[in-house]
Amino acid sequence: MSLRATRAEINSTAFISNLNIFRQKIGSKKLCLAVKANAYGHGLVPIAQLAQDNNIDMLAVAGVDEGIVLRRAGIITPILVLSPFVRKEVSLIFQYKLTPMLTHLDYLGDIEKFSSQYNYCLPIHIKINTGMNRVGFSATSVREQLKDLWDNPSVSIVGIGSHFACADEKTEVSIQQTKKQIKLFQTVLNELSDILDKDVIIHMANTSATINFEESHYDMVRVGIGAYGYPLDQDLGLKPILNFKSKVVYSQKIAKGEIVSYGGTWVASEDTNIALLPVGYGDGYPRALSNKGSVKIEDQYFPIIGAVCMDMMMINTGDKLISKETDVLIMGDDQLLNAEQLAKKINGISYEMLTSISERVPRLFL
Ligand SMILES: Cc1ncc(COP(=O)(O)O)c(C=O)c1O
Repeated sequence: MSLRATRAEINSTAFISNLNIFRQKIGSKKLCLAVKANAYGHGLVPIAQLAQDNNIDMLAVAGVDEGIVLRRAGIITPILVLSPFVRKEVSLIFQYKLTPMLTHLDYLGDIEKFSSQYNYCLPIHIKINTGMNRVGFSATSVREQLKDLWDNPSVSIVGIGSHFACADEKTEVSIQQTKKQIKLFQTVLNELSDILDKDVIIHMANTSATINFEESHYDMVRVGIGAYGYPLDQDLGLKPILNFKSKVVYSQKIAKGEIVSYGGTWVASEDTNIALLPVGYGDGYPRALSNKGSVKIEDQYFPIIGAVCMDMMMINTGDKLISKETDVLIMGDDQLLNAEQLAKKINGISYEMLTSISERVPRLFL
């Protein structure tokens, strides 16, 4: 176990409770958990293992490499690869029994080759572009576009899905966009209704759509950020499961007029105490929060002063000289220090605050 002062504590109980909140919302539908990008910064393998132990139906990764890490760690749950892959990865998809979400048919020849080599009919999902305009088959004449897949013995279509562009936005324009995407997806499903097997898993909803657009649940929802405890502005009882913490490692008194950190962007307006935390942008704490962020010691918030360095940052503790080894909350399950609130200060989103926490920060599962 890491003894480093800076760590990300993961609340396993809260994670399971968040999953259950979504289960209650979707009833008997399937629940797919997005674990891409190191499980949104929480730790790919341990999160996948926890989810598997709690009967998750499917795991979603961005790329083949993430799927391989999971298989090598012994994860046996179906793994959906959401993003397009390159030709060289086709053999790995077969080797590690991953389920790609096909967005084009350029590598169908390679799929057929490995299918006969491995004597394995590859389960695939089809991705339909209903308006996000990132990846996927166009929603018009899908039947014709996919004609090489119907009755193809190398593949088995086990799922079909799409992805929303604006399901998390509350403006009327965004709501209309989401409804338009659902309508278009339904048109595609109608067009394919006599071809698709009745067991094919239809899926479209991310966290926000799962919460706000029940008509998009279909057979399965793909939840990411919600399982990790966000968004917090919905009255659902979701709880952030990651607490980014450190400890004070040094404290000192500085005189009025002294500067702190690179560039001297902060000048003491009076004699004060400052404390040093061994955490910086090398750990994924944004440098953009220099002179903007704050941290919490017991029940009190203290501002970050001066530039956040690669490995350290300083806080102003006023008339308090904080003793070494005192625990500090940097980001987590707190009204002001949750990932959403901190992101707002720098025009960011909770997703990037969480996924930015770097590899050198140990994840401790509690
Ligand atoms: C295709 C796809 N599905 C599902 C998700 C999960 O989204 P969220 O984290 O908003 O629930 C993502 C995340 O970006 C995604 O790209």
